[in-house]
Amino acid sequence: MHIASDIVVSLYNPAGATPGMLSSGVEVRHGDYNDPASLDAAFAGTDRLLLVSSPSIAHTQRVAHHMAAIDAAKRAAVKRVYYTSLAFASDSRAAVMQAHLDTERYLKGSGIAYTILREGIYSESYPLYFGFWSATEGEDEVLVPHSDGGIAWVCREDLGEGTAKIMVGGGYENETCLLSGSRTVTLGQIAEKVSQLLGRNIKLAVGSEDDYVQRNLGKNGPRGEEEFLRKWATTYKAMERGELEVVDPLLEESVGRSLKPFEHTLKETLSIHGSVMEQYAK
Ligand SMILES: NC(=O)c1ccc[n+]([C@@H]2O[C@H](COP(=O)([O-])OP(=O)(O)OC[C@H]3O[C@@H](n4cnc5c(N)ncnc54)[C@H](OP(=O)(O)O)[C@@H]3O)[C@@H](O)[C@H]2O)c1
Repeated sequence: MHIASDIVVSLYNPAGATPGMLSSGVEVRHGDYNDPASLDAAFAGTDRLLLVSSPSIAHTQRVAHHMAAIDAAKRAAVKRVYYTSLAFASDSRAAVMQAHLDTERYLKGSGIAYTILREGIYSESYPLYFGFWSATEGEDEVLVPHSDGGIAWVCREDLGEGTAKIMVGGGYENETCLLSGSRTVTLGQIAEKVSQLLGRNIKLAVGSEDDYVQRNLGKNGPRGEEEFLRKWATTYKAMERGELEVVDPLLEESVGRSLKPFEHTLKETLSIHGSVMEQYAK
């Protein structure tokens, strides 16, 4: 039996802890990937570490963050590190997977027992894959390069619950587990679903990488930069190989119920733009 007071939560910004977290009984500490001493203090006295991958998209910095956490776990004599990797294949050339593969290698060589949890693609993040589409920007043709995929989408809440249950339940020592959704949805099918939900005719086009870069150049943030776009295009090469289509029953078995369908998250995400739904939904 585990209770909340068995859990230490290491936050970069403890002031951002939610009231629910603070009242739950977990102990909140400060841990910064860039400050090894803070990680020593954050991990002191703990025996299992869930290392949630760093949000940095810069490869070197991201891997350095993970290495710092694994080194600190070793100093703190943590008995098992659970690492949230990503669902691409072990030999993937997808740029976004490379920091995860480097981290997996480092963790395997660390001497600490590990469980690598390759998390499926978040349903909530679908616009990243669906050509950066936004219901409010009025684009009716969504352009992606190479492939319209097939992705075993999974929502963050199911991943969180499944991960917690796997950590509590034990097992999977020195194993790599895939936590995928229970079925795949292609980008073409997303175009159909969005069209139905909004009463618009959103079409998916699979074009060349150059077309994809041209379509997005100059848009806000990294997605408007050629270097980012060329790297992100490797995601679609991986999808062409079927890397994100793999369905594993482990997550559904771990939570002990059906996983939330992709369509539910899609509807919720579109409802966030309430006025758009009202404007377009028929
Ligand atoms: N599977 C997928 O499809 C998918 C999609 C997107 C992202 N991801 C990965 O999953 C991770 C979690 O995603 P998320 O959406 O939960 O991200 P998120 O909400 O942005 O969480 C990132 C966390 O990193 C913390 N952080 C930032 N800088 C830090 C530092 N220097 N030291 C320690 N902690 C630091 C932040 O702490 P504060 O809150 O205290 O600032 C925040 O809690 C991401 O970081 C990314 O690697 C996966």
